[in-house]
Amino acid sequence: MSVTKEAVLERLKTISGPDFSGNIVDLGMVSEIFVADGKVFFSITVPAARAQEMEPLRAAAERVVKEIPGVASAIVALTAEKKGGGMEAAVPPRPAPRPAAPPRPAPHAPASHSQGKRGVPGIEAIIAVASGKGGVGKSTTAVNLALGLAALGLKVGLLDADIYGPSMPRLLGIRGRPQTRDGKILQPMENYGLKVMSIGFLVEEETPMIWRGPMVISALTQMLREVEWGPLDVLVVDMPPGTGDAQLTMAQQVPLAGAVIVSTPQDLALIDARKGLNMFRKVDVPLLGIVENMSYFVAPDTGKRYDIFGHGGAKREAERLGVPFLGEVPLVMDIRESSDGGRPVVAADPQGAEAAIYRQIATRVRDRLAQEKATAENAVPSIVFE
Ligand SMILES: Nc1ncnc2c1ncn2[C@@H]1O[C@H](COP(=O)(O)OP(=O)(O)O)[C@@H](O)[C@H]1O
Ligand SMILES: [Mg+2]
Repeated sequence: MSVTKEAVLERLKTISGPDFSGNIVDLGMVSEIFVADGKVFFSITVPAARAQEMEPLRAAAERVVKEIPGVASAIVALTAEKKGGGMEAAVPPRPAPRPAAPPRPAPHAPASHSQGKRGVPGIEAIIAVASGKGGVGKSTTAVNLALGLAALGLKVGLLDADIYGPSMPRLLGIRGRPQTRDGKILQPMENYGLKVMSIGFLVEEETPMIWRGPMVISALTQMLREVEWGPLDVLVVDMPPGTGDAQLTMAQQVPLAGAVIVSTPQDLALIDARKGLNMFRKVDVPLLGIVENMSYFVAPDTGKRYDIFGHGGAKREAERLGVPFLGEVPLVMDIRESSDGGRPVVAADPQGAEAAIYRQIATRVRDRLAQEKATAENAVPSIVFE
């Protein structure tokens, strides 16, 4: 039996709106519903200020839709009401957008992005992949970006710094424990040509990750410095989601050459993405750019494109904030399924359309790194007579 939109709407009427006022369908909170192949996609519009408390509502909607006979999976996103300026408070825009390769203010010292942070011998550049909140596809982006960089001929490592929710063992289909050399230096694990380290290799998967700040930092420091990484052109770091103190400390501890921010197109995620941008600005890490993930949806049967999640939001925001836009990745079931199967799409289907998108993002990241490096080198004070 094929699933109909009507059946989905009918079921969603059992979900009460905020404050128990009617149901989410009659309140007009549910977007257009898309059904393909037993997979259901839609979004729920909520007041931006109450996004956090609406997560249970989103989860409940996803759950009841999955219960409908014939529904294989459901993806439900929260989107924010557009009220002009509503999210301006989160992060004020910069006064003037800066060009792609801004001259760095370099009052004295050679502008090292990682001033005071020790580099890691053998690693040319460390880049962070970050997001303001979880679930936006940060780890998926990190792993496919790393594979894309490797496809460009670079030697690439991947550090899973999301120690609260490590996902690299699963995403890369790596099992087992890392070996140590003379009981001290850890050998990274390897798959698809990437060197990988994750707390997930070191603790049981079911172990609840309740870390306190200092433990977080020491675990991260070990995974960064007590691992035989080298030589690497790039180490991609999958950062923990969010912009709290722990994330800020990490951004400060790791000598980062740049950061890539992952956002979904929805306004809610953009608010968080801006917090992410500001966090890196605060610690003077160059922003390599923004990736819009789950940008649009391509129906698996017809190939038709649907902009159900408000495609383009991240690009507009990037332009407004003067941050380079690195590319948009569609919501594609293959990306999810191949990741869950330990075969990220760039490795599983290198000739496919998604792999091409990630390679293009990787190319832009590589070029931005080169730009930032050149800018930093030029920033060494020098007197030039013309
Ligand atoms: N472009 C995409 N298309 C389809 N599914 C995606 C896409 N990006 C991420 N996902 C899926 O969304 C979920 C969250 O992604 P993940 O990378 O784990 O997010 P995060 O690291 O930000 O928490 C995963 O199930 C992942 O497979
Ligand atoms: Mg993750």
